[in-house]
Amino acid sequence: MSSKKRILSGMRPTGPLHLGNLHGALANWVGMQDKYDCFFFIADWHALTSDYEDPGAITGFVDEMIIDWLSAGLDPQKSTLFVQSLVPEHAELFMFLSMITPVPWLERNPTYKDQIVQINNKDLSTFGFLGYPVLQAADIIMYKADGVPVGIDQVPHVEITREIARRFNFLYGNIFPEPEAVLTKTSKILGLDRRKMSKSYNNAIYLSDNPDEIAKKVSRMVTDPQRMRKSDPGNPDICNVFEFHKIYSDKKTWEAIAPQCRNAQIGCVACKKVMAENLIKAMEPLHERRAYFKAKPELVKKIILDGSEKARNVAKETMDQVRSAIRIKD
Ligand code: TRP
Ligand code: SF4
Repeated sequence: MSSKKRILSGMRPTGPLHLGNLHGALANWVGMQDKYDCFFFIADWHALTSDYEDPGAITGFVDEMIIDWLSAGLDPQKSTLFVQSLVPEHAELFMFLSMITPVPWLERNPTYKDQIVQINNKDLSTFGFLGYPVLQAADIIMYKADGVPVGIDQVPHVEITREIARRFNFLYGNIFPEPEAVLTKTSKILGLDRRKMSKSYNNAIYLSDNPDEIAKKVSRMVTDPQRMRKSDPGNPDICNVFEFHKIYSDKKTWEAIAPQCRNAQIGCVACKKVMAENLIKAMEPLHERRAYFKAKPELVKKIILDGSEKARNVAKETMDQVRSAIRIKD
């Protein structure tokens, strides 16, 4: 048994991962691998809560997501990487938790209230969608996680998880620790159009984009919107390309570009070209690992199956305790 604290987090496989995901959640996870006993999983059942009418794409996204994870540096030797649907114990724990979760806790969940209003192209008035945080609570407490690295939007779900764990412990005996949310700093990277980088805005650079695609996307990035012509002075402080420079180019390069931009000595086309080259160079190791895993589907499959088996062994133990605590069958 390791004495490290355990953390657990998951992602829904709703599309390929982009630079926003990389510099947000993923890099954070990669950095936690040595310090914590890490469980990271692909929440494919959670994807069904909103995409139940079109489930066909989910499996493909699962396979790509695990490749994105491995390319970004998640290491199956260090972390337990698994897929939710390969650990069916999650469904059983979800069912038990649903017995004790008051509906008003779910109805007042801010994420639920927002999405029910905002997402109009799908019918989300389902039991499963309302119960999303109960399934998430099962994911988390199944592994008795101490911490849950998540973005700010997921904090209400971790809060509901704590409430459900507390209620379970009160009713049946102390089995579950109350997990803490570990806030992930949001990535500063915006999309090509300066909105939040997102698949649904069609403004993302994906980990799977090849160098040509990256160069093409960079060339259509919105820069300082006030700057119409090369002869206009620009303002790097409000320019997204400049934000990218600060991540991908060395300090000398972007420190030289800033005054040139302000004095209209460098045009956006040239400036972007330098940035694109540096971005492509920075992505090279990731792209190499991606190509490696892409060419070895049987290895990737084995990584998923082995990780899921490891997770399942933990889950089985927890479920034995849960069943005997509820005295349903032991
Ligand atoms: N709800 C999370 C999201 O949309 C995904 C998720 C499912 C999750 N189960 C989890 C995250 C458990 C952390 C822990 O991002
Ligand atoms: Fe942005 Fe570079 Fe254009 Fe300045 S020159 S506005 S930093 S893209």
